[in-house]
This record gives sequence, structure tokens and C-alpha cells, in this order.
Amino acid sequence: MKAIVVHHAGGPEVLRLEERLIPQVKPGWSVIKIRAFGINRSEIFTRQGFSPQVTFPRILGIECVGEIFASSDTERLPYGQKVLTTMGEMGRQFDGSYAQYVLVTNEQIFPIATDLSWENLAAIPETYFTAYGSMLQLQLQAGDRILVRAAASGVGVAFVKLVKARYPELVVVASVRNLAKKEQLLAVGYDQVILDKAGCLQTEATFTKILELVGPKVIKDSLKHLDMGGIICATGLLGGQWYLKEFDPTEALRNNVYLTTFYSGNVSSQGWQKLLDYIAKYQVDVSPQRVFSLEQIQEAHKFLESSQAFGKVIIRNED
Ligand SMILES: NC(=O)c1ccc[n+]([C@@H]2O[C@H](COP(=O)([O-])OP(=O)(O)OC[C@H]3O[C@@H](n4cnc5c(N)ncnc54)[C@H](OP(=O)(O)O)[C@@H]3O)[C@@H](O)[C@H]2O)c1
Repeated sequence: MKAIVVHHAGGPEVLRLEERLIPQVKPGWSVIKIRAFGINRSEIFTRQGFSPQVTFPRILGIECVGEIFASSDTERLPYGQKVLTTMGEMGRQFDGSYAQYVLVTNEQIFPIATDLSWENLAAIPETYFTAYGSMLQLQLQAGDRILVRAAASGVGVAFVKLVKARYPELVVVASVRNLAKKEQLLAVGYDQVILDKAGCLQTEATFTKILELVGPKVIKDSLKHLDMGGIICATGLLGGQWYLKEFDPTEALRNNVYLTTFYSGNVSSQGWQKLLDYIAKYQVDVSPQRVFSLEQIQEAHKFLESSQAFGKVIIRNED
């Protein structure tokens, strides 16, 4: 099979196309024939050598969609079953999805039913799952005015698409560090774009729900913009700060607001199917921004690292 192997950390040029043997099935594991997969920023970090737990050589890739090729559990995962897989140390502790086939533990493989094209299906894992889970945590209802902090992120964009497909009447406001992508943000569904200057929202407006993707670094500022009884879902950490410092819950949450989160590690086949059914029912546009071939992996990484990236970049394997 063709695979993209990284032998040492570096720029996109370290992503090398090689011939490898198709992995052999073993007890508790199955082999997926990969049809397509999304590229994630975490793989760029790993390629650059910023994932200390990952040793090289390694085939990267933390998610993919495809069909069962060989399985140790033919009842749940019969030959040809459409599946998706994500995370669980694939592409980190063991070889991942930048290839034509991948060997994955059975519990990490989720059978799915969908009519989506492989390109569109590959744009969903992780990003849409996280956005969907966060949306459920926010318990949306009529009249909500929602703020998405770090709105241009993959999760932010997926969130607004999911929300607007079902609740077109709800107001969804984007906050960003700079206004360079304002037109793209409006085009993707946001009603308004406001500036987030050094962790301080440049508005007096308040909201009933907030999707917090910058994280602990700005949560206190976000809480100042949350209405009485509102909900803030702290899903992201883009601000680079993991912990809340000097957090007095009684003071910070005094407007009787709710602070929650969503953790994408809580996965199940039913959870994935619920998301796919939602996407089908409300005709959510999940199409990726760019589609590359496995041979173009270096180009795909360069694109994701560029300022043009806005939405999902995927690799489609030839049939
Ligand atoms: N809870 C979970 O289970 C879970 C699952 C998946 C992801 N996440 C988290 O969700 C967040 C979003 O993930 P993603 O993959 O969607 O991210 P992403 O697409 O890689 O995010 C990049 C975008 O975020 C913006 N950004 C970066 N730092 C920012 C900051 N300090 N303030 C405002 N905007 C900032 C950048 O804006 P510019 O255009 O200004 O550069 C860029 O548009 C991450 O923190 C990720 O770790 C959590």
C-alpha cells in the first residue's frame, strides 16, 4: 500500500510517500480500507516534533473514513462495512491514517450508515462531533443569542453551520482576533463579527449562550457577556492556557449561569449516528474547503498552515 511516513521532525517535506505492506489483522483489531481522511492541526504539531510521546518513523493521521477490509470481529465489523475512526492514539502510538489501509482496535471503529460522499464524510470526524456535542450542551432554544469565541476555528465554523441549518432564526455572533476573515465568517452563517482584542471583547453586548473556544485565558471576560441564567460551554483551549487561575465560582457565576464543557473522547456508534442523522435531516453543508490526493500530502499541510485555510482540508484516496 501507499503510505506517508515521517522519519524525523520537520517541515512538510518530511512527509514521504512510501510503499508499505498492508497491515495484518490481529485479535481485537481490524484493518480499514481508507477512502478519505481529514488533516488536523495536531498532525502539523506532531510533524514538527512537538508531540513528545510520538516516536519516528511514524505514519501520522488521527482519523479516517472507509470500509472494513479484514476484522477480528466479523459480526460487528463485517467486510465492506462503512466505518469511521478517530483518535485513540492512532497516528501517535501506532501507525495512522495517512495511508491506503490502517490497523485499528475494534472499540475505536464505529460502523455508520450514511449517503454522504467520502469527501464530505471525511470532513466530519472530531471537528463536527465536537461542535455538535457543544451545541447540545448549550441547550439551544428560541430567542437565543449565541457568541462563538475563536469563531474562525474549525470547531467554530462547524458549530455555526450546524446551528443555522436547524435554527436559522437564532443570532450567532463571531468573535475573532482580527477581522481579515470577516466576509468568510458572514458567508458561512455568522450574523455579526466582533473583535476580541487582547482577550477583551470589543462590545457591550450580552448573550444567552457562549461557545468558548479560546478557553480559560478569557473565560472571565466571556462571563461578563453572559446573560442571567445563560450557559457557557468551555470546549476549546486556543488561548494556550489550560487552567482557570483564582477562580471564585460564587463570584464568577453570580448571574446564576451554567459553566459546562464537551469532551469528544466520549464516543459511541449511537453518538456518531445521531450526528450523521442530524446532518442529513437538516442538510448541513459539511463539504471540505479543499480535497487533495495522498501524493499531494505536502501541499495539503502547506495549505492548512497558510492564511487561506478556512474549513476542513481532506485527502481522498483513489478507488
Ligand atoms: N473538548 C474537546 O473534546 C475538543 C475536541 C476538539 C477540539 N477541541 C479544541 O477546540 C479548539 C478549536 O479546535 P480547532 O481544531 O477547531 O482549531 P483550529 O481550527 O486549529 O483553530 C485555528 C483558528 O483559531 C483561531 N485562534 C487561535 N488562537 C486564538 C486566540 N487566542 N483567540 C482567538 N482565536 C484564536 C485562529 O484565528 P486567526 O485567524 O486569528 O489565526 C484560527 O482561525 C482547540 O482549542 C481544540 O483543542 C476540543
